[in-house]
Amino acid sequence: MANSSSPARRKRVLSGMRPTGKLHLGNYMGALHNWVRLQNQTAPVQYECYFFIADWHALTTDYADPSAIAANTREVILDYLAAGLDPEKSILFVQSHVRQHAEFHLLLSMITPLGWLERVPTYKEQQENITGKDLSTYGFLGYPLLQAADILIYQPDFVPVGQDQAAHVELTREVARRFNQFYKKQPTASGQQSASAGEAPEPEPILPEPQVLLTPSPKLPGTDGRKMSKSYGNTILLSDPEPEIRAKLKTMVTDPARIRRKDPGNPDKCPVGDLHKIFSTQETIAKVYEGCTTAGIGCIECKTWASDAIVQHVAPIQERRAGLEQNPSLVRDILDQGARRAAARAEQTMQEVRSAMGLNGVSAS
Ligand code: TRP
Ligand code: SF4
Repeated sequence: MANSSSPARRKRVLSGMRPTGKLHLGNYMGALHNWVRLQNQTAPVQYECYFFIADWHALTTDYADPSAIAANTREVILDYLAAGLDPEKSILFVQSHVRQHAEFHLLLSMITPLGWLERVPTYKEQQENITGKDLSTYGFLGYPLLQAADILIYQPDFVPVGQDQAAHVELTREVARRFNQFYKKQPTASGQQSASAGEAPEPEPILPEPQVLLTPSPKLPGTDGRKMSKSYGNTILLSDPEPEIRAKLKTMVTDPARIRRKDPGNPDKCPVGDLHKIFSTQETIAKVYEGCTTAGIGCIECKTWASDAIVQHVAPIQERRAGLEQNPSLVRDILDQGARRAAARAEQTMQEVRSAMGLNGVSAS
């Protein structure tokens, strides 16, 4: 097995999403699309990839009515697979299937100062913005620490996430540093760590600090021109059928300066223009600029082109999804296998953690 200091070791990557239901184009461009690229990259480095669905995290806000979590988890795994995450290349799993995350969260809670969690920007923000749910709970405060456990348990090199998760990865790094100050690698019976020449070198830290890998995220507006988000009700789903995509595009806001057909517009000030930049070919984009700024095309035509581009992009994804929907036992097998592989890797870290924290005196297993 590759030693962690060997230069040949593949870099490890871990990321996840909460199960929010069917994913929209914003989720796709903001994360999933990038994960698929990392998974498929073979040079200059190949990545060992772990991607999961954070169903326990859903409970931190939806504990009073958890009825949607299971179905939402299913929708997200279908979208993962449909978008191209491949169980042959990546380890795909559901958080709650790997109980070690919960054990690790508990152990990390022992060393995490309350102030660190209270200071995470999303904590106060979400408490203010999410109305109708009582978020003054222990679990909600611990949200980013559970995330730290999710991450550190795989000892990854990189965590590919959107900018909105950067503060959580930063907290994760601080927790790792604090853990490493308290606890050092214990010499093991198998002697991996043997100080061969009599002189004890500084041991490698148990929890290497992972780096955030920010998704280069182009601005992806929803139908109302604001950031695409489930809570705004302005989304286009990866799984929306073609007529639905076309209908949503028709209602999409455009450059407000183009009131009449003969008024010229500016694609840089138009949400439809933003979609073109993401999904259309250079050729179409050129036609859009030319036609829009000279009032040579109408917005209806322009939207048709944008719909064409999106439909073309999601067609193979939807085709794969349709196949998977017919095959629930295949999806179950993928998740079972993913959970087994993830648990084996997580357990490896936990054995070091337990013994470093003094918990290996009496074996329970
Ligand atoms: N908080 C992340 C989100 O809302 C989901 C998440 C949970 C996560 N644990 C993680 C992301 C670990 C990356 C790594 O999308
Ligand atoms: Fe937007 Fe296209 Fe209309 Fe220009 S022509 S305002 S880019 S929809």
